[in-house]
Amino acid sequence: MANSEGSSGPVTHVFRGTFIHSTPETALQVLEDALLGVDTAGKISFIGKGENLLELSQKFGFNPSDVNQLAQHEFFMPGMIDTHIHASQYSYAGTALDMPLLQWLNTYTFPVESHFKDLEFAKKVYTQVVKRTLRNGTTTACYFATIHTDASLLLGQIANDFGQRALVGKVCMDRNNSVKHYRETVQESVDETHRFIKELLNKKYPLVKPVVTPRFAPSCTEALLEQLGTIAKNNNLHIQSHISENIDELKLVKELFPDSETYTDIYHKFNLLTDKTIMAHGCHLSDKELTVFRETGTSLSHCPNSNVSLCSGILDARNVLNHKVKLGLGTDVAGGYSSSILDAVRRTLDASKVLTIQNPQHQTLTFEEVFRLATLGGSQALSLDDQIGNFEIGKDFDALRVNVAARGGPIDLHKVDHLTSYSLFPPICPLKGDDRNIVEVFVAGRKVVPCEDLALE
Ligand code: GUN
Ligand code: FE
Repeated sequence: MANSEGSSGPVTHVFRGTFIHSTPETALQVLEDALLGVDTAGKISFIGKGENLLELSQKFGFNPSDVNQLAQHEFFMPGMIDTHIHASQYSYAGTALDMPLLQWLNTYTFPVESHFKDLEFAKKVYTQVVKRTLRNGTTTACYFATIHTDASLLLGQIANDFGQRALVGKVCMDRNNSVKHYRETVQESVDETHRFIKELLNKKYPLVKPVVTPRFAPSCTEALLEQLGTIAKNNNLHIQSHISENIDELKLVKELFPDSETYTDIYHKFNLLTDKTIMAHGCHLSDKELTVFRETGTSLSHCPNSNVSLCSGILDARNVLNHKVKLGLGTDVAGGYSSSILDAVRRTLDASKVLTIQNPQHQTLTFEEVFRLATLGGSQALSLDDQIGNFEIGKDFDALRVNVAARGGPIDLHKVDHLTSYSLFPPICPLKGDDRNIVEVFVAGRKVVPCEDLALE
């Protein structure tokens, strides 16, 4: 570990202890007895060795006695990144998982989402989801809201107020035959998307950005998809949608878009596949389609809880990685019943092991690779890896202080002679731990958990 320095302002916090993170070369790197400095802008100004404390303190102008020392069973890891979550579906997460996707949307999802016209209701649910996901260690969330512009703006405001980094999408959909009051005309969708982008950008929230959000091809006409592609391009914005989640959905897409050879072609045709696009699921994408993803820089959000809960399919994440497509993890609340990326880590491992059970030749994802997907992979999927994802100098300090032995937590530590305590830490916490082990959460250097306002109602 080299001592390096960034070009930053005065150092305001220095932490000493174990730091665990990923790099493009190393899926999981453990830095023991490291020193990490954070500047006034919330960026990492240096990372060095504990033994060089005096030298670093002189160089960066901090008092060695101000160093915040981690306790014996603590470590820092990068904040986790949820690349796909429906904030508006948080109100019924954990229920209503008795139908496949298309029936589930018509029966539960569209009726619930239509309630977000009511700003009081929206405020309540959006406050809960932001607080809960922060508490679970999600420092960055890529949210779907609903078609309602004012409620979507409110979600942006709430994320900003609680200090979460967020991409927020006002959902666009001009086709919905089952819940007719929950759809827009093309013109309404386009006008409201313009208004949403303009008003959200005008707020100048430092960590919250708008994302152009066609719900998925079956909810949108070609006319709408075309306009949304243009809006994203003209404003250089992120785009998010769903693709190839479930077999009945693929059949419907073929009926609705008979001229397109593949599902991927539909989005591609309307300039919706870019290096700032995140597509959720992709369980049934062909290798040819994955190649288009790589060529366009489009990323995939792997949502294993949802894929199993709605009986949609099992994404072969190894194949996605072999195609060099950017991949992050998503909870897909409420298709997924858990709002925790730790849950997504476990489900990703399970899904990969199921594929190995079915085919022993399958190369199972390792724990280390999945840890990287939850952190650095997510940042790459959202094209934010120049700002977040690991503990590189110059990136924002988005971090979780984890205590493996947190009082009242779910882990009982055992002394295992042939393992050092630190070599035991990385796997044990994501696999057995939960939010009780996440004792502090930082976003851009600001401590957002614990926070008095964050006491859950
Ligand atoms: N496809 C279109 N809309 C949705 C949604 O809300 N959830 C999931 N899982 N898939 C979708
Ligand atoms: Fe989804």
